[in-house]
Amino acid sequence: MSDLRPTAVIVLAAGEGTRMKSTTPKVLHTIGGRSLVAHAIRAARGTSPHHLAVVVRHERDRVAEHVAQVDPEAVVADQDDVKGTGRAVECALQSLPEGLDGTVVVTYGDVPLLSSETILELTAMHDASGDAITMLTSRPQDPTGYGRIVRGADGAVEAIVEQKDATEDERAIREVNSGIYAFDARFLREALSEVGTDNAQGEMYLTDVVVIARRRGLAVHADLVDDVWQTEGVNDKVQLARLGAELNRRTVEQAMRDGAIVIDPSTTWLDADVTIGPDTVVRPGTQILGASTIGRDCVIGPDTTLTDVEVGDGASVVRTQAELAEIGPGATVGPFSYLRPGTRLGAKGKIGGFVETKNADIGAGAKVPHLTYCGDATIGEGANIGAGTIFANYDGVTKGHCTVGAHSFIGSNSVIVAPRTIADGAYVAAGSAVVSDVAPGQLAVTRAQQRNVDGWVARRRAGTRTEEAARAAQALASTEHTSEQTSETKDAQR
Ligand code: UD1
Ligand code: CA
Repeated sequence: MSDLRPTAVIVLAAGEGTRMKSTTPKVLHTIGGRSLVAHAIRAARGTSPHHLAVVVRHERDRVAEHVAQVDPEAVVADQDDVKGTGRAVECALQSLPEGLDGTVVVTYGDVPLLSSETILELTAMHDASGDAITMLTSRPQDPTGYGRIVRGADGAVEAIVEQKDATEDERAIREVNSGIYAFDARFLREALSEVGTDNAQGEMYLTDVVVIARRRGLAVHADLVDDVWQTEGVNDKVQLARLGAELNRRTVEQAMRDGAIVIDPSTTWLDADVTIGPDTVVRPGTQILGASTIGRDCVIGPDTTLTDVEVGDGASVVRTQAELAEIGPGATVGPFSYLRPGTRLGAKGKIGGFVETKNADIGAGAKVPHLTYCGDATIGEGANIGAGTIFANYDGVTKGHCTVGAHSFIGSNSVIVAPRTIADGAYVAAGSAVVSDVAPGQLAVTRAQQRNVDGWVARRRAGTRTEEAARAAQALASTEHTSEQTSETKDAQR
């Protein structure tokens, strides 16, 4: 077979999803960092169909806009006031080129784990058999709510009966319709024009085309899926969490097969787009989200959340929260570091404990080891930012930028008031408030001269333990002084 691509994949996403009890349309809820409908669209797109349509109605604009973002090539088809899956497919066909033939696959926008491979297998099976309809069925523990597969004495599929229309006997059937089908395009178009709304829900059922096929003497093939998760849909928030956990289990397993070492898969959450290099260790309690990419031989976690973060090979990121940041190869971050958007840490650089960074470009080998706020700053290669340094980037009205040059050294507990430039090879003395630029080779000191007031404790804190301690220390010092003098005298006499 040369062309296994389906002619079209139609993703149904017009339903209301009332059981979600949410102001967000059901298909826009996310698992693994992607909306439900984005998962469905990616699976569909992965089969390289000639056409891909997404049917919308409920919250039409929000869903349509999202679909256009996820897959600009997808056709957004509007369903009208006629309800039902049959009408949804009919509306999709109307927005695709007229007279389409070949295989049309229908999937659901609220079924996120269906894979491209499964759609391709279904398509191949359908193409090979030449049947009018090929569909995926499953046998869930509890078939309540699903359409039941009614098979004839010869085992052939005769009809799909919806829960609400089913007789007692039909409700006892365990095999159910997954809602994923491959159709012959011409047959589908013709059959849909015959489908009515004479049923318990007053809807145009897509499932009615099965009976129409049988009436015409056409074959309908149903295939039980091996992997039931792939056909499970989300109807409420309990299922959202269940499918989210299963997706995560699969993503983490894939990461391990690709070479990552995951210490505790059950507390590790990886979004679907994340990549992790071989021999990187992911420790417990870690979430790697968005479009994060992690190099090889890194240590990530424990208790770390990275969102859209790029981590170079051999870096270590421990107990850290980071978003839209770049961490260079061999760099170390944490514990207890907070990297906000626009943080870039160079190769072998360091961001240590209780450090917050934002829009900060920290050069290779530079160190910001302790208790610092580093916002809107460029730190040169090999510079050292002392403990407790604050880049005062905001004056209440505007934000300003600071630069610290290569191999410069900022003493502890300094504040650099933006906008300011400290050149390469400069020093700032501990405890300084830097309000003017510092040139290469200079030392900036802004603190007041130290003044030691003799006898202050004795005068102002008489009777305290402090005064007692001072007296004892003074007495000891004077004896030592005397004995030193004695030994000096002896030395002189020698
Ligand atoms: C449907 C099937 C049922 C199957 C079940 C599997 C029909 C008549 N029934 O039932 O046999 O067992 O799926 O989950 O097809 N949708 C639209 N427009 C509509 C109605 C629905 O686009 O007018 C979309 C929904 O957004 C959803 C999908 O179609 O993605 C299924 O809709 P849903 O209401 O969940 O179908 P069920 O009644 O559960
Ligand atoms: Ca459903």
